[in-house]
Amino acid sequence: MERSLLIFALLVVATVTVLGTSRAEVVNNSASGGLLWSSGAGHLAENTETDESLNDHDEFDGGFPSLDGMLQWAIGHSDPAKLELKAHDVQQLSADEIQKRQMEIKELVEKLEMPSDAKLMQNAIKDLNNSSLSLEDHHRALMELLVLVEAIDNANDLHKLGGLSVIIRELTNSDSGIRTICAWIIGKASQNNPVVQEQVLELGGLPTLIMMVKSSFTEEAIKALYAVSSVIRNNHNGIKLFYSEGGDLMVQGVLSNVTADVRLHRRSVSLLGDLAEYQLEYSSKPEPLFFRNCALVRPVLDLTASYDLDLQEKVLVAVKNLLRLKSAELLVVDGFCGLKGALEKMRHRLQQEQDRRDYAIDVEVLRKEVYLIYLDKLNKVQLLLLE
Ligand SMILES: *[C@@H]1O[C@H](CO)[C@@H](O)[C@H](O)[C@H]1NC(C)=O
Ligand SMILES: *[C@@H]1O[C@H](CO)[C@@H](O)[C@H](O)[C@H]1NC(C)=O
Ligand SMILES: *[C@@H]1O[C@H](CO)[C@@H](O)[C@H](O)[C@H]1NC(C)=O
Ligand SMILES: *[C@@H]1O[C@H](CO)[C@@H](O)[C@H](O)[C@H]1NC(C)=O
Repeated sequence: MERSLLIFALLVVATVTVLGTSRAEVVNNSASGGLLWSSGAGHLAENTETDESLNDHDEFDGGFPSLDGMLQWAIGHSDPAKLELKAHDVQQLSADEIQKRQMEIKELVEKLEMPSDAKLMQNAIKDLNNSSLSLEDHHRALMELLVLVEAIDNANDLHKLGGLSVIIRELTNSDSGIRTICAWIIGKASQNNPVVQEQVLELGGLPTLIMMVKSSFTEEAIKALYAVSSVIRNNHNGIKLFYSEGGDLMVQGVLSNVTADVRLHRRSVSLLGDLAEYQLEYSSKPEPLFFRNCALVRPVLDLTASYDLDLQEKVLVAVKNLLRLKSAELLVVDGFCGLKGALEKMRHRLQQEQDRRDYAIDVEVLRKEVYLIYLDKLNKVQLLLLE
């Protein structure tokens, strides 16, 4: 009994020694009033890991499943000579001292016990919700949540733990940095996750996010648009609310703002393409007037003049979807807001592209395809008019 306790004590000492210098980082989380395992139980560590010698210890990647696992690891990684030395030291201790050690060790073990992701999220949410903590603390809590919600189980837990309401509330924080990460978290958590999408919609997050896209802080606008796209993607309720909250005007505004950041242009064009695709898929739903409007289509075509090939490609995908909509017929009769001229100019520019030849060739294939779809549609409409 005495002996096994001693061994246990040694292992803990060894574990602490080993961990103190290894990648498993213990964070001094003064906000939560104690030691806290680096959040994400490995995510953060993976990104910042530089010590090659530790890379083969897979046990660390997801954190230890239990104290037992941690001890096993410690046995394998501690220096036997040092262990013996410590064993010798321990044998010299008096009964009182041993008892004191045992208490200390017990405390240590309690502190070291690895919190679950849910516990980490709970701590971060608590800190975020605590208005007496500093902006820095709130920032750190949000960064932890950002990493944690990458796992779908955590994203699903976010609302259960009260986190989603706090994050949506913080979308109106006076600090743009805080607002930005909140939008980012919502975007990440709701991406391809219908459960979180519905929760964000129910908590009323969408209208705020739509407003935020107009922010004069570029990063905030980008993350807000990312969140809007994630929340409504393939989601009937989300798309309905998007239109009723003026999301279409927001997208149109970004597309026609020539000074907007190219990343905003890319995202808004992609969103437009997605919305058109959704419409094609659920063709029984009435087509929003939004689509049959040169005030929307012309700024999109103007973006073909961009030197960003990625943006040009996204524009073509969106135009391709728009052309296939029923409402396109009305615009096609009048030349689809100048499509032919825009595509012709684009052809010249693509021919001149030097740096990314292969990409330009791919985009040219798509450009031709869009032109053929246009001609085909034009033929059909003209035949209809002749009848
Ligand atoms: C933990 O952080 C607080 C505040 O940042 C500091 O006062 C304290 O000394 C730190 N404790 C340790 C053990 O580093
Ligand atoms: C908020 O943070 C302060 C400062 O760390 C702490 O004293 C207080 O207990 C916290 N409040 C809650 C509700 O956790
Ligand atoms: C946030 O704090 C308020 C009081 O300040 C409390 O009513 C609410 O339950 C807290 N929410 C969470 C998720 O901790
Ligand atoms: C257009 O974008 C710029 C740069 O992001 C921004 O400062 C400006 O407010 C935007 N204009 C409108 C009308 O949204």
